[in-house]
Order: sequence, then structure tokens, then C-alpha cells
Amino acid sequence: MRVLIIGARGMLGTDLLKEWTTDELIPASSRDADIRVPEQVHSLLARTRPDWTVLTAAYTDVDGSEGHPENAFAVNARGTENVARAVKEVGSRLFFVSTDYLFDGTSARPYEPGDPIAPLNVYGQSKAAGEKAIREHHSEWCIARTSWLFGAARACFPEKILRACETRSELTVVADQLGSPTFTRDLARMIRDLVRMDARGTLHVTNEGSCSWFEFAQETLRQAGRDSVRVSPITTAEARRPARRPPYSVLSPASLNTLGLRMRPWRDALSAYLKELREMGDLR
Ligand SMILES: NC(=O)c1ccc[n+]([C@@H]2O[C@H](COP(=O)([O-])OP(=O)(O)OC[C@H]3O[C@@H](n4cnc5c(N)ncnc54)[C@H](OP(=O)(O)O)[C@@H]3O)[C@@H](O)[C@H]2O)c1
Repeated sequence: MRVLIIGARGMLGTDLLKEWTTDELIPASSRDADIRVPEQVHSLLARTRPDWTVLTAAYTDVDGSEGHPENAFAVNARGTENVARAVKEVGSRLFFVSTDYLFDGTSARPYEPGDPIAPLNVYGQSKAAGEKAIREHHSEWCIARTSWLFGAARACFPEKILRACETRSELTVVADQLGSPTFTRDLARMIRDLVRMDARGTLHVTNEGSCSWFEFAQETLRQAGRDSVRVSPITTAEARRPARRPPYSVLSPASLNTLGLRMRPWRDALSAYLKELREMGDLR
């Protein structure tokens, strides 16, 4: 099977290439095709003719999207539509990676794929438009919504916490947003397995369990042996970030579980991530 990865240089894309050795993978970066440009996307698909296309490329700057909605929509909405159209034309199936930020966080239980979406920020709105474009322009697709990604290939939350504690003995972290941290290695393996089983429809794919950013920071420091650093909880209002974020965006594992699949708990995934950092020499 030939699998085209669009977004191959990103945090998730990098781990997809590392974890997926069972098929013929074709990595594509923005240098191979800018997904905002239909002709470039069309020519990439015509050249590679994959059985499956995995689209991980996105404009992922959540706060930056607020000041520049046109950038977020150009990539996440129209760019995704360009890919959906070109993928359909060559008879490829499409796997799209979406987000928990589609939800407004008012639910009292983990979100299921069929729950109504109501994104609070521009990034979430642009990804919702991307999902809609796929449903309108293609019929052979699988959408995996995920959340709070961390991985060794790029800067991410636990890495920023570890870097911050090199120069500071006290940190403040938001404690009133709950979600599920997800390791890009684990997500990459799950995407590989879902594609290989020819999955379809909308799924929620995160590591199991949930926490606040504050708890995520505490656990990162504990597992990294940096217990002496003091972390204090603050509120979302106190953090004064440009983009609104849902107070609760935990995604239910039920859609995966019914396929006989499950992800490990986020704390175990975090320890695998820290092990990878140690092996890379990025953590003492
Ligand atoms: N990070 C999270 O916490 C999170 C949470 C939920 C969902 N997601 C979703 O998960 C997916 C992967 O996220 P990630 O964190 O791995 O992203 P990332 O590290 O920011 O990588 C995104 C990639 O998108 C590519 N890209 C951006 N604009 C492009 C364009 N116009 N044309 C072609 N490629 C373009 C970039 O390619 P180049 O490097 O080649 O320029 C970049 O490597 C995204 O769809 C994101 O929306 C992420």
C-alpha cells in the first residue's frame, strides 16, 4: 500500500514516518506542495497516486490564529478542501487529523464524535471548516480528532515546562482546563493501524485519562526528577491568552474501543516520551 503523508516535517508527521514501516510511505512537506495552492496539491497527488493520504499539515498556532484568521482558514479550511478534492480525483482515501478544540467545553462527560461542535476560537473554527469540506468533497475518509499533542520532534508543553524550570524555580500553569495529553508516537501507531484496517468515519483518538495543564506540568516534573521546582495553579483568565479555550475537552475513547482498539494512559505515554528525550540526550 502507498501512503502519502502531507505534513511529514511536523511533530506528528515525523513520528508517523518513524512508526510506520509496514507500507510504502511518501513524505511531503510544504516544500513539495503548499496545500493553499490547488495546482500544487493536484500535481503532488497526480505524481504520487497513493492508496491513502494522511493529512497532518495544518496551521497549528492557536493564539496566532486569533490575530490572523485568514492564515488559519487558508490552510485549515481551504487547504484541507484542496487536498480532499485532489485526493478524490486520483481515487485515494483520506485520513484527516482534527482537534478537541471543536468543542466548547460545556459537556459534563467525555465528548463523543456525534456530539454537537461549537468551537470557541478561530483555530477550532478553521479545523471545523476543514472537516466540513472533507465530508462535502469526498466520501472515502476517516477523521481522527485528538488533543494536547506532545512529542520529541518539536516544541511541546512538557518540553516547554522542562526548559522553563532550567531558569526558574517557580512556574504558574493553568488549572481550570481539562483534556487528554496525547503522545505523537502513540497517535502515529494508531493512525497506521486505523489506515491498515481501512477505518472510516469520525473517531476520537487520545491517550486514556485526563488532567489539567497544571497536573500535566506537575507529572512532567515529577517523572523528570525535577520535584524541587514549585508549580502554582492559575486560572485561564489569569493566563491572559489571546484565544479562548474550552474548560473541558476530554474525548471519549468509545469510538476506538468499539473497533477493539485502545490507547495507553497518558502518564505511561509521558514516561515513554521522557525516555525518548533521555535517549536523544535532551534530558539528563
Ligand atoms: N499540536 C496539538 O496539540 C494538536 C492538538 C489537536 C490536533 N492537532 C492536529 O494534529 C495535526 C498535527 O499537528 P502537529 O502538532 O504535528 O503540527 P505541527 O508540528 O505544527 O506541523 C504542522 C505541519 O503543517 C505543515 N504546513 C503548515 N502550513 C502548510 C501549508 N500551507 N502547506 C503544506 N504544509 C503546511 C508544516 O509543514 P512544513 O514544516 O513542511 O512547513 C508543518 O510541518 C494537525 O492537523 C493539528 O491541527 C494538533
